Amino acid sequence: MTEVVNSQPLERLVVVGLGLIGGSFAKGIREKGLFREVVGVDLDAESRRQAVVLGVVDRCETDLRAACEGATVIQLAVPILAMEKVLAQLASFSLGDAVLTDVGSAKGNVVRAARAAFGLGAVRFVPGHPIAGSEQSGVEASNAKLFRRHKVILTPSPDTDSQALELVDRLWRALGADVEHMQVEHHDQVLAATSHLPHLLAFGLVDSLAKRSENLEIFRYAAGGFRDFTRIAGSDPVMWHDIFLANREAVLRTLDAFRDDLDALRDAIDGSDGRQLLGVFTRARMAREHFGKILARRAYVESVQARDRVFEARPGGVLSGSIRVPGDKSISHRSIMLGSLAEGTTEVEGFLEGEDALATLQAFRDMGVVIEGPHHGRLTIHGVGLHGLKAPPGPLYLGNSGTSMRLLSGLLAAQPFDTTLIGDASLSKRPMERVARPLRAMGASIETSAGGLPPISIKGGQRLRGNHYDMPMASAQVKSSLLLAGLYASGETSVSEPASTRDHTERMLQGFGYPVALGDKRTALVGGGKLNATHIEVPADISSAAFFLVAASIAEGSDLLLQHVGVNPTRTGVIDILSLMGADIALENPRHAGGEPVADIRVRAAQLQGIDIPLELVPLAIDEFPVLFIAAACAKGRTVLHGAEELRLKESDRIQVMADGLAALGIQAEPTHDGIIIEGGEIGGGEVWSHGDHRIAMAFSVAALRASATIRVHDCASVATSFPNFIDLAAQAGMQVVQEAKS
Ligand code: S3P
Repeated sequence: MTEVVNSQPLERLVVVGLGLIGGSFAKGIREKGLFREVVGVDLDAESRRQAVVLGVVDRCETDLRAACEGATVIQLAVPILAMEKVLAQLASFSLGDAVLTDVGSAKGNVVRAARAAFGLGAVRFVPGHPIAGSEQSGVEASNAKLFRRHKVILTPSPDTDSQALELVDRLWRALGADVEHMQVEHHDQVLAATSHLPHLLAFGLVDSLAKRSENLEIFRYAAGGFRDFTRIAGSDPVMWHDIFLANREAVLRTLDAFRDDLDALRDAIDGSDGRQLLGVFTRARMAREHFGKILARRAYVESVQARDRVFEARPGGVLSGSIRVPGDKSISHRSIMLGSLAEGTTEVEGFLEGEDALATLQAFRDMGVVIEGPHHGRLTIHGVGLHGLKAPPGPLYLGNSGTSMRLLSGLLAAQPFDTTLIGDASLSKRPMERVARPLRAMGASIETSAGGLPPISIKGGQRLRGNHYDMPMASAQVKSSLLLAGLYASGETSVSEPASTRDHTERMLQGFGYPVALGDKRTALVGGGKLNATHIEVPADISSAAFFLVAASIAEGSDLLLQHVGVNPTRTGVIDILSLMGADIALENPRHAGGEPVADIRVRAAQLQGIDIPLELVPLAIDEFPVLFIAAACAKGRTVLHGAEELRLKESDRIQVMADGLAALGIQAEPTHDGIIIEGGEIGGGEVWSHGDHRIAMAFSVAALRASATIRVHDCASVATSFPNFIDLAAQAGMQVVQEAKS
């Protein structure tokens, strides 16, 4: 059999069934010249005539045997309930090594029919399903481009002939389709939920309304919502009747689950349970908005091409004016967590609408908390109390967010239900035993996966005991995780840290009226209390402001004001380090907002000097080192960092990745086991890779201000995790960073 689709044409393609799908397949393949001839078979004489006239096929046959004997590929595009009969007929012909495939919308019944007809010979049958329907039908609607950028699912079994599979796969790809492989049962269940159930609802709703005596009246006022929802009730009734009969079991399972949910909605309306309704509606709205993103990020894990979002940072620029960077990520996470566990309604302002904080938000929605928003940074959280969370329907997907995973581990260890925490490719490489181990010492049942990495499985229903933990590393995430578990533990939970780390959890707990004992690098609380809802104002994130602190410092002539930045002393290491390097930074109008110190920060360009970074400042600037390394590259002389081995465990190995990028731009940077030595120098243009780390991507964008040519930063999709509007704000301040158009 010929193997390469685009060299020598194959001999004969037979398409049995010249409807929209069969006709479009035939036409597309014919236009590509992939076969010497494309032959159509259809029971209907008019369809056969039109297929030839419209150039869908080269010729038609009335006799199935005459068409199929000697064929290279036979595509079955007949109605799904006719498949069994056609397959049985085909089995009585001499088909040689022809490859058989189909386009049926349900796969279980077709696969069973092929096995019944061909027995072991079914290995040359490749079941397929293009997801490219339309309300149009018939050969006259054939469109050679119908499958372009649409999904085609192939459902081979383990014994399907690999050459046959490859050939069918290539034919669909030649038509521009995205081909995926799936197990038959999985396909049928997924399609029952995403396609078959919606069609059933649309047909059912229109029929139910049309039957009523006042139907004319109803349809006269039917507006956009009705039209959108019922558009698919215009689909081919016979085809859909076939699909429901063919995919009976999977549809029934989905329909039963949906009926339960519909009953719950009915009860909520009956009982005037507005909170339940709001919960369903807000969850649904969020899910709809974010499914696309979640899917894109999963695809981004799988496909390098989709992942490579490139920032092109052009040299030069002066920063001026006044900007406000988005809300603090750490505080945003905690506002959702504590707001959800509080009694009463918590209002949040300034919430960071980045993917990490949204992952936490979604997790709490999945656990039954009703959260309105976010709308321009505002949220209303209807707290459920410390004991009001419900078991989520499946694993909690936390994207790229280490903070979500580590803090939630502590909180979930104390719940009555089991949970599994999963994340994207980067999060799946981050160490989780640092929280699991001390939580186990409190009585938690928590398992990490091989190597101490995610996924994390947590068994509910454990009684936690207060404990003292001496943290071996300075980590606010570990400290916070234990304090959250401590809310549920008997007695006192206390944590000592080797160096002070961010104290947002402690401050916010106090803001919610929960007593916390604060000592010198020691924090303690006693379980069994409660949280009272409050108002939270999230200040701008100093970790995001840091990019502009460095940018304005290194770009000659700059004078920039950063508004309302959180200047909690456990976070201001970046200001101290830059000041030691000679930066011109002033805090103006210091004040308090929502229990956190806040100020406007004025920064003017200055000549920076290399320094030895004081050890005690390292934990206070832990997230800002990527951009501080850019400051070091622009400084006179040598900058030395030690005591920062934690940097190797962040969203990427920030020491190695920064050293590689700096070297690519002509800067001498020598990584050490716990830090880096950087010699200031001339920055050149070039290509650098962020390795999916948001802060690295933004740091190298800043470097361009002093570069001799453009810096192209690869792999920047993750910037959306902490700073979704980075490019816009950078432009507003005077930088020239653009996202390259996708090719
Ligand atoms: C964070 C703590 C820090 C920091 C992270 C956010 C938090 O992590 O790097 O971006 O919100 O508690 P570690 O606890 O691992 O140092």
